[in-house]
Amino acid sequence: MPSTLQYEQLNEIANQFKTPVYVYHAERIREQYEKLLTAFQGADTRFFYAAKALTNINILKYILSIGCNVDCSSINEVILAIQAGFVPKNILYTSNNISFEEIEEAKNLGVHINIDSISNLRKFGKSFSHSYPVGVRIRPNIMAGGNLKISTGHVDSKFGVPLEEIEEVMRVVKETGLFIRTLHIHTGSEIKDVEVFAKGIEVLFDVVQYFPELEVIDLGGGFKVPYMPDEKGTDIELLAKKVKNEFDWYEKKFNRHLQVWFEPGKFLVSEAGYFITRVNVIKKAGNILFAGVDSGLNHLIRPMFYGAYHEIENISNPAGEKKSYNVVGNICETDTFAENRLLPEIREGDYLVFRNAGAYGFEMASNYNSRFKPPEVLVKEGRANLIRKRDELDDLLRNQMEGI
Ligand code: LLP
Repeated sequence: MPSTLQYEQLNEIANQFKTPVYVYHAERIREQYEKLLTAFQGADTRFFYAAKALTNINILKYILSIGCNVDCSSINEVILAIQAGFVPKNILYTSNNISFEEIEEAKNLGVHINIDSISNLRKFGKSFSHSYPVGVRIRPNIMAGGNLKISTGHVDSKFGVPLEEIEEVMRVVKETGLFIRTLHIHTGSEIKDVEVFAKGIEVLFDVVQYFPELEVIDLGGGFKVPYMPDEKGTDIELLAKKVKNEFDWYEKKFNRHLQVWFEPGKFLVSEAGYFITRVNVIKKAGNILFAGVDSGLNHLIRPMFYGAYHEIENISNPAGEKKSYNVVGNICETDTFAENRLLPEIREGDYLVFRNAGAYGFEMASNYNSRFKPPEVLVKEGRANLIRKRDELDDLLRNQMEGI
Protein backbone atom coordinates (compact mmCIF):
# COMPACT_ATOMS: atom_id res chain seq x y z
CA MET A 1 0.00 0.00 0.00
CA PRO A 2 1.27 3.49 -0.80
CA SER A 3 2.05 5.70 2.19
CA THR A 4 -0.59 8.17 3.30
CA LEU A 5 -0.68 10.63 6.16
CA GLN A 6 -3.02 9.63 8.97
CA TYR A 7 -5.81 11.83 10.34
CA GLU A 8 -4.03 12.21 13.66
CA GLN A 9 -0.97 13.76 12.06
CA LEU A 10 -3.06 15.96 9.75
CA ASN A 11 -5.03 17.22 12.77
CA GLU A 12 -1.79 17.96 14.60
CA ILE A 13 -0.43 19.87 11.61
CA ALA A 14 -3.66 21.89 11.31
CA ASN A 15 -3.48 22.76 15.01
CA GLN A 16 0.19 23.65 14.84
CA PHE A 17 0.33 25.63 11.59
CA LYS A 18 -3.34 26.74 11.47
CA THR A 19 -5.50 26.55 8.39
CA PRO A 20 -5.69 26.69 5.47
CA VAL A 21 -2.45 24.78 4.98
CA TYR A 22 -0.90 22.64 2.25
CA VAL A 23 0.85 19.49 3.43
CA TYR A 24 3.15 17.28 1.33
CA HIS A 25 4.45 13.84 2.13
CA ALA A 26 8.02 13.35 0.94
CA GLU A 27 8.11 9.56 1.11
CA ARG A 28 5.02 9.33 -1.10
CA ILE A 29 6.79 11.36 -3.79
CA ARG A 30 9.71 8.93 -3.60
CA GLU A 31 7.40 5.93 -3.84
CA GLN A 32 5.79 7.34 -6.97
CA TYR A 33 9.20 7.85 -8.55
CA GLU A 34 10.24 4.34 -7.58
CA LYS A 35 7.09 2.99 -9.23
CA LEU A 36 8.26 4.53 -12.48
CA LEU A 37 11.80 3.22 -12.10
CA THR A 38 10.58 -0.29 -11.35
CA ALA A 39 8.10 -0.37 -14.21
CA PHE A 40 10.60 0.96 -16.75
CA GLN A 41 13.51 -1.19 -15.61
CA GLY A 42 15.47 -2.37 -18.61
CA ALA A 43 14.32 0.52 -20.80
CA ASP A 44 16.57 3.45 -21.66
CA THR A 45 14.35 6.04 -19.98
CA ARG A 46 14.87 9.32 -18.17
CA PHE A 47 12.25 11.05 -16.03
CA PHE A 48 12.06 14.83 -15.68
CA TYR A 49 9.72 16.06 -12.92
CA ALA A 50 7.39 18.73 -14.38
CA ALA A 51 8.14 21.37 -11.79
CA LYS A 52 5.12 23.49 -12.67
CA ALA A 53 3.01 21.08 -10.61
CA LEU A 54 4.72 22.18 -7.40
CA THR A 55 7.81 24.38 -7.33
CA ASN A 56 8.60 24.94 -3.68
CA ILE A 57 12.41 24.80 -3.62
CA ASN A 58 12.34 22.18 -0.88
CA ILE A 59 10.29 19.93 -3.15
CA LEU A 60 12.77 20.55 -5.97
CA LYS A 61 15.63 19.65 -3.62
CA TYR A 62 13.81 16.52 -2.57
CA ILE A 63 13.20 15.55 -6.20
CA LEU A 64 16.93 16.03 -6.79
CA SER A 65 17.80 13.93 -3.74
CA ILE A 66 15.85 10.94 -5.05
CA GLY A 67 17.72 11.10 -8.34
CA CYS A 68 15.00 12.47 -10.60
CA ASN A 69 15.62 15.14 -13.27
CA VAL A 70 13.52 18.26 -13.72
CA ASP A 71 11.41 19.78 -16.51
CA CYS A 72 10.75 23.52 -16.42
CA SER A 73 8.10 25.65 -18.06
CA SER A 74 9.64 29.09 -17.63
CA ILE A 75 13.11 30.54 -17.33
CA ASN A 76 12.35 31.26 -13.68
CA GLU A 77 11.71 27.58 -13.06
CA VAL A 78 15.05 26.85 -14.74
CA ILE A 79 16.75 29.30 -12.39
CA LEU A 80 14.95 27.81 -9.38
CA ALA A 81 16.04 24.32 -10.46
CA ILE A 82 19.65 25.49 -10.64
CA GLN A 83 19.28 27.09 -7.22
CA ALA A 84 17.92 23.80 -5.91
CA GLY A 85 21.14 22.15 -7.09
CA PHE A 86 20.24 20.51 -10.40
CA VAL A 87 23.04 20.54 -12.96
CA PRO A 88 22.10 21.79 -16.45
CA LYS A 89 22.32 18.36 -18.08
CA ASN A 90 19.52 17.18 -15.80
CA ILE A 91 17.29 20.17 -16.54
CA LEU A 92 14.89 20.31 -19.43
CA TYR A 93 13.15 23.46 -20.54
CA THR A 94 9.85 22.81 -22.37
CA SER A 95 7.98 26.05 -22.90
CA ASN A 96 5.50 27.48 -25.33
CA ASN A 97 5.24 30.82 -27.08
CA ILE A 98 8.20 32.37 -25.29
CA SER A 99 10.50 35.04 -26.64
CA PHE A 100 13.71 34.08 -28.39
CA GLU A 101 15.60 36.05 -25.73
CA GLU A 102 14.31 33.61 -23.11
CA ILE A 103 15.46 30.66 -25.20
CA GLU A 104 18.89 32.26 -25.51
CA GLU A 105 18.99 32.69 -21.75
CA ALA A 106 18.24 28.99 -21.29
CA LYS A 107 20.93 28.14 -23.83
CA ASN A 108 23.43 30.24 -21.91
CA LEU A 109 22.56 28.24 -18.79
CA GLY A 110 23.33 25.06 -20.71
CA VAL A 111 20.04 23.20 -20.20
CA HIS A 112 18.16 20.96 -22.65
CA ILE A 113 15.63 22.96 -24.63
CA ASN A 114 12.49 21.91 -26.48
CA ILE A 115 11.39 24.59 -28.97
CA ASP A 116 7.73 24.81 -29.94
CA SER A 117 7.57 27.08 -33.00
CA ILE A 118 9.12 27.25 -36.45
CA SER A 119 9.86 30.90 -35.85
CA ASN A 120 12.02 30.23 -32.79
CA LEU A 121 13.61 27.17 -34.39
CA ARG A 122 14.73 29.32 -37.30
CA LYS A 123 16.12 32.01 -34.98
CA PHE A 124 17.93 29.34 -32.97
CA GLY A 125 19.38 27.77 -36.10
CA LYS A 126 20.52 31.12 -37.45
CA SER A 127 22.21 32.01 -34.18
CA PHE A 128 23.74 28.70 -33.13
CA SER A 129 23.55 26.39 -36.14
CA HIS A 130 24.88 22.93 -35.20
CA SER A 131 26.64 23.97 -32.02
CA TYR A 132 23.78 23.36 -29.54
CA PRO A 133 21.43 20.36 -29.84
CA VAL A 134 17.75 21.08 -29.32
CA GLY A 135 14.37 19.40 -29.27
CA VAL A 136 11.31 20.22 -31.32
CA ARG A 137 7.90 20.03 -29.74
CA ILE A 138 5.51 18.49 -32.24
CA ARG A 139 1.76 18.87 -32.08
CA PRO A 140 0.76 15.31 -33.00
CA ASN A 141 -2.92 16.13 -33.60
CA ILE A 142 -4.09 13.69 -30.97
CA MET A 143 -7.03 14.41 -28.67
CA ALA A 144 -6.10 13.36 -25.15
CA GLY A 145 -6.37 14.25 -21.50
CA GLY A 146 -9.05 14.68 -18.86
CA ASN A 147 -10.81 17.63 -20.52
CA LEU A 148 -10.25 20.17 -23.27
CA LYS A 149 -8.55 22.68 -20.98
CA ILE A 150 -5.79 20.20 -20.23
CA SER A 151 -5.60 18.69 -23.72
CA THR A 152 -2.60 20.05 -25.56
CA GLY A 153 -1.90 17.97 -28.66
CA HIS A 154 -5.12 18.24 -30.66
CA VAL A 155 -5.65 19.92 -34.04
CA ASP A 156 -6.70 23.27 -32.59
CA SER A 157 -4.09 23.38 -29.87
CA LYS A 158 -1.59 26.25 -29.60
CA PHE A 159 1.16 23.89 -28.42
CA GLY A 160 4.03 22.72 -30.56
CA VAL A 161 4.79 22.67 -34.26
CA PRO A 162 1.85 21.08 -36.09
CA LEU A 163 2.75 17.71 -37.53
CA GLU A 164 1.83 18.93 -41.00
CA GLU A 165 4.63 21.54 -40.76
CA ILE A 166 7.33 18.90 -40.45
CA GLU A 167 8.71 19.67 -43.91
CA GLU A 168 9.18 23.26 -42.87
CA VAL A 169 11.16 22.05 -39.84
CA MET A 170 13.38 20.05 -42.19
CA ARG A 171 13.84 23.11 -44.39
CA VAL A 172 14.98 25.11 -41.36
CA VAL A 173 17.38 22.33 -40.40
CA LYS A 174 18.80 22.31 -43.91
CA GLU A 175 19.08 26.09 -44.12
CA THR A 176 20.67 26.66 -40.73
CA GLY A 177 22.44 23.41 -39.86
CA LEU A 178 20.33 23.00 -36.71
CA PHE A 179 21.07 19.91 -34.60
CA ILE A 180 17.73 18.27 -33.71
CA ARG A 181 18.42 15.81 -30.92
CA THR A 182 14.91 15.39 -29.53
CA LEU A 183 11.36 15.10 -30.78
CA HIS A 184 8.87 16.01 -28.07
CA ILE A 185 5.14 15.61 -27.60
CA HIS A 186 2.90 16.30 -24.63
CA THR A 187 -0.71 15.58 -25.49
CA GLY A 188 -2.36 16.47 -22.20
CA SER A 189 -2.82 15.83 -18.52
CA GLU A 190 -4.72 12.92 -16.94
CA ILE A 191 -4.24 10.52 -19.83
CA LYS A 192 -5.62 7.24 -18.58
CA ASP A 193 -5.56 5.36 -21.84
CA VAL A 194 -2.12 3.92 -22.55
CA GLU A 195 -3.07 3.75 -26.24
CA VAL A 196 -2.79 7.53 -26.40
CA PHE A 197 0.92 7.24 -25.66
CA ALA A 198 1.18 4.39 -28.18
CA LYS A 199 -0.46 6.61 -30.78
CA GLY A 200 2.02 9.38 -29.99
CA ILE A 201 4.92 6.99 -30.47
CA GLU A 202 3.46 5.86 -33.78
CA VAL A 203 3.18 9.45 -35.00
CA LEU A 204 6.77 10.18 -34.02
CA PHE A 205 8.18 6.96 -35.49
CA ASP A 206 6.73 8.08 -38.81
CA VAL A 207 8.91 11.18 -38.84
CA VAL A 208 12.06 10.02 -37.02
CA GLN A 209 13.61 9.07 -40.36
CA TYR A 210 13.81 12.76 -41.30
CA PHE A 211 16.09 13.51 -38.35
CA PRO A 212 19.31 11.54 -38.71
CA GLU A 213 20.85 13.04 -35.58
CA LEU A 214 17.92 12.26 -33.33
CA GLU A 215 18.79 10.60 -30.01
CA VAL A 216 15.72 11.16 -27.84
CA ILE A 217 11.96 10.80 -28.03
CA ASP A 218 10.31 12.84 -25.28
CA LEU A 219 6.75 11.72 -24.62
CA GLY A 220 5.95 14.48 -22.11
CA GLY A 221 3.90 13.98 -18.96
CA GLY A 222 0.22 13.42 -18.35
CA PHE A 223 0.02 10.16 -16.40
CA LYS A 224 -3.35 10.06 -14.71
CA VAL A 225 -3.69 9.66 -10.98
CA PRO A 226 -6.99 8.57 -9.42
CA TYR A 227 -8.98 11.50 -8.03
CA MET A 228 -12.26 9.71 -7.32
CA PRO A 229 -12.42 6.83 -4.83
CA ASP A 230 -12.87 4.02 -7.36
CA GLU A 231 -11.04 5.64 -10.23
CA LYS A 232 -7.98 4.10 -11.87
CA GLY A 233 -4.86 5.95 -12.90
CA THR A 234 -2.69 5.24 -15.92
CA ASP A 235 -1.54 1.63 -15.89
CA ILE A 236 2.17 2.40 -15.59
CA GLU A 237 3.28 -1.23 -15.94
CA LEU A 238 1.30 -1.58 -19.15
CA LEU A 239 2.65 1.71 -20.42
CA ALA A 240 6.22 0.61 -19.67
CA LYS A 241 5.65 -2.69 -21.44
CA LYS A 242 4.28 -0.96 -24.52
CA VAL A 243 7.06 1.61 -24.60
CA LYS A 244 9.71 -1.10 -24.26
CA ASN A 245 8.12 -3.20 -27.00
CA GLU A 246 7.75 -0.29 -29.38
CA PHE A 247 11.31 0.96 -28.94
CA ASP A 248 12.83 -2.53 -29.07
CA TRP A 249 10.92 -3.14 -32.29
CA TYR A 250 12.13 0.15 -33.72
CA GLU A 251 15.72 -0.53 -32.76
CA LYS A 252 15.70 -3.96 -34.36
CA LYS A 253 13.98 -2.82 -37.52
CA PHE A 254 15.99 0.33 -38.14
CA ASN A 255 19.14 -0.47 -36.21
CA ARG A 256 18.73 2.76 -34.35
CA HIS A 257 18.62 3.31 -30.60
CA LEU A 258 16.43 6.05 -29.15
CA GLN A 259 16.28 7.12 -25.53
CA VAL A 260 12.83 7.87 -24.06
CA TRP A 261 12.12 10.83 -21.81
CA PHE A 262 9.02 11.53 -19.73
CA GLU A 263 7.93 14.66 -17.85
CA PRO A 264 5.54 13.54 -15.10
CA GLY A 265 4.11 16.22 -12.83
CA LYS A 266 0.89 15.01 -11.22
CA PHE A 267 2.07 11.43 -11.03
CA LEU A 268 4.92 12.37 -8.72
CA VAL A 269 3.32 14.92 -6.41
CA SER A 270 -0.48 14.92 -6.64
CA GLU A 271 -1.24 12.14 -4.19
CA ALA A 272 1.49 13.31 -1.84
CA GLY A 273 -0.44 16.52 -1.19
CA TYR A 274 -3.21 17.40 1.28
CA PHE A 275 -4.96 20.71 1.66
CA ILE A 276 -6.46 21.27 5.10
CA THR A 277 -9.19 23.86 5.62
CA ARG A 278 -11.40 24.72 8.56
CA VAL A 279 -15.16 25.13 8.43
CA ASN A 280 -16.21 28.68 9.26
CA VAL A 281 -19.92 28.44 8.69
CA ILE A 282 -22.62 25.81 8.33
CA LYS A 283 -25.58 27.28 6.52
CA LYS A 284 -28.87 25.69 5.59
CA ALA A 285 -30.50 27.25 2.56
CA GLY A 286 -33.57 25.49 1.28
CA ASN A 287 -32.57 21.90 0.69
CA ILE A 288 -28.89 22.67 0.56
CA LEU A 289 -26.53 22.35 3.45
CA PHE A 290 -23.48 24.53 2.87
CA ALA A 291 -20.17 24.01 4.61
CA GLY A 292 -18.21 27.22 4.12
CA VAL A 293 -14.46 26.79 4.62
CA ASP A 294 -11.68 29.29 5.30
CA SER A 295 -10.37 29.03 1.74
CA GLY A 296 -11.69 29.20 -1.80
CA LEU A 297 -10.77 29.33 -5.46
CA ASN A 298 -7.85 31.52 -4.46
CA HIS A 299 -6.13 28.46 -2.93
CA LEU A 300 -7.41 25.44 -4.83
CA ILE A 301 -8.89 26.42 -8.16
CA ARG A 302 -9.01 23.00 -9.81
CA PRO A 303 -12.65 22.20 -8.91
CA MET A 304 -13.88 25.54 -10.24
CA PHE A 305 -11.54 25.81 -13.23
CA TYR A 306 -11.65 22.25 -14.54
CA GLY A 307 -14.65 20.80 -12.72
CA ALA A 308 -12.05 18.61 -11.02
CA TYR A 309 -13.08 16.20 -8.29
CA HIS A 310 -11.08 16.21 -5.06
CA GLU A 311 -11.84 13.73 -2.34
CA ILE A 312 -12.83 15.54 0.89
CA GLU A 313 -12.54 14.07 4.36
CA ASN A 314 -13.80 15.39 7.66
CA ILE A 315 -10.81 14.60 9.83
CA SER A 316 -12.42 16.15 12.91
CA ASN A 317 -15.45 13.88 12.88
CA PRO A 318 -14.71 10.88 10.67
CA ALA A 319 -17.29 8.67 12.37
CA GLY A 320 -20.09 11.25 12.13
CA GLU A 321 -23.40 10.47 10.48
CA LYS A 322 -23.20 11.02 6.72
CA LYS A 323 -25.03 14.01 5.26
CA SER A 324 -25.01 15.72 1.93
CA TYR A 325 -23.10 19.02 1.71
CA ASN A 326 -22.11 21.66 -0.75
CA VAL A 327 -18.58 22.52 0.29
CA VAL A 328 -17.91 26.12 -0.67
CA GLY A 329 -15.26 28.77 -0.21
CA ASN A 330 -15.22 32.28 1.24
CA ILE A 331 -14.31 34.15 -1.94
CA CYS A 332 -16.71 36.64 -3.51
CA GLU A 333 -17.38 34.30 -6.40
CA THR A 334 -19.25 31.04 -6.65
CA ASP A 335 -16.38 28.90 -5.48
CA THR A 336 -17.89 25.48 -5.01
CA PHE A 337 -15.42 22.75 -4.11
CA ALA A 338 -18.02 19.99 -4.11
CA GLU A 339 -21.75 19.65 -4.64
CA ASN A 340 -24.03 17.15 -2.90
CA ARG A 341 -21.04 15.45 -1.31
CA LEU A 342 -21.85 12.83 1.30
CA LEU A 343 -19.63 13.53 4.29
CA PRO A 344 -19.59 12.69 7.98
CA GLU A 345 -21.50 15.40 9.84
CA ILE A 346 -19.64 18.69 9.59
CA ARG A 347 -19.63 21.12 12.48
CA GLU A 348 -18.28 24.64 12.52
CA GLY A 349 -14.59 24.42 13.41
CA ASP A 350 -14.07 21.00 11.82
CA TYR A 351 -11.08 20.41 9.60
CA LEU A 352 -11.80 19.29 6.04
CA VAL A 353 -8.97 17.78 4.04
CA PHE A 354 -8.81 17.87 0.26
CA ARG A 355 -6.86 14.94 -1.14
CA ASN A 356 -4.68 14.94 -4.22
CA ALA A 357 -3.70 18.52 -3.62
CA GLY A 358 0.02 18.20 -4.33
CA ALA A 359 -0.12 19.06 -8.01
CA TYR A 360 -1.40 22.39 -9.32
CA GLY A 361 -2.84 23.24 -5.90
CA PHE A 362 -0.62 25.78 -4.17
CA GLU A 363 1.02 26.37 -7.52
CA MET A 364 -2.14 27.89 -9.00
CA ALA A 365 -3.04 29.83 -5.85
CA SER A 366 -3.48 33.60 -5.86
CA ASN A 367 -4.09 36.50 -3.52
CA TYR A 368 -7.58 37.16 -4.90
CA ASN A 369 -9.78 39.08 -2.45
CA SER A 370 -6.52 40.14 -0.78
CA ARG A 371 -6.34 36.87 1.08
CA PHE A 372 -3.06 35.35 2.11
CA LYS A 373 -1.57 32.38 0.30
CA PRO A 374 -1.41 29.42 2.69
CA PRO A 375 1.72 27.98 4.22
CA GLU A 376 3.28 24.74 2.94
CA VAL A 377 4.44 21.94 5.21
CA LEU A 378 6.61 19.02 4.16
CA VAL A 379 6.38 15.82 6.19
CA LYS A 380 9.58 13.83 5.94
CA GLU A 381 10.57 10.91 8.11
CA GLY A 382 7.50 11.63 10.21
CA ARG A 383 8.45 15.23 10.95
CA ALA A 384 6.40 18.20 9.79
CA ASN A 385 8.61 20.99 8.45
CA LEU A 386 7.33 24.42 7.49
CA ILE A 387 8.65 25.07 3.98
CA ARG A 388 6.75 28.27 3.26
CA LYS A 389 5.16 30.56 5.79
CA ARG A 390 1.73 32.03 5.40
CA ASP A 391 1.60 35.39 3.62
CA GLU A 392 1.42 38.53 5.71
CA LEU A 393 0.00 41.95 4.99
CA ASP A 394 3.40 43.09 3.71
CA ASP A 395 3.23 40.40 1.03
CA LEU A 396 0.05 41.97 -0.31
CA LEU A 397 1.71 45.38 -0.46
CA ARG A 398 5.07 44.18 -1.80
CA ASN A 399 5.97 45.82 -5.11
CA GLN A 400 3.24 48.41 -4.77
CA MET A 401 4.58 51.96 -5.21
CA GLU A 402 3.37 55.32 -4.13
CA GLY A 403 2.17 56.41 -7.54
CA ILE A 404 0.04 59.39 -6.67
N1 LLP B 1 5.20 18.44 -19.81
C1 LLP B 1 4.61 19.51 -20.36
C2 LLP B 1 5.18 20.10 -21.56
C3 LLP B 1 3.44 20.04 -19.78
O1 LLP B 1 2.85 21.08 -20.33
C4 LLP B 1 2.92 19.44 -18.61
C5 LLP B 1 1.73 19.99 -17.97
C6 LLP B 1 3.59 18.34 -18.06
C7 LLP B 1 4.72 17.85 -18.70
C8 LLP B 1 3.12 17.64 -16.82
O2 LLP B 1 1.84 17.11 -16.93
P1 LLP B 1 1.24 16.21 -15.75
O3 LLP B 1 2.09 14.96 -15.66
O4 LLP B 1 1.32 17.00 -14.50
O5 LLP B 1 -0.15 15.94 -16.15
N2 LLP B 1 -3.20 22.58 -14.15
C9 LLP B 1 -3.78 21.42 -14.76
C10 LLP B 1 -2.77 20.60 -15.50
C11 LLP B 1 -2.05 21.42 -16.54
C12 LLP B 1 -0.85 20.74 -17.02
C13 LLP B 1 0.01 21.67 -17.81
N3 LLP B 1 1.12 21.01 -18.40
C14 LLP B 1 -4.49 20.60 -13.68
O6 LLP B 1 -4.49 21.01 -12.53
O7 LLP B 1 -5.09 19.57 -13.99
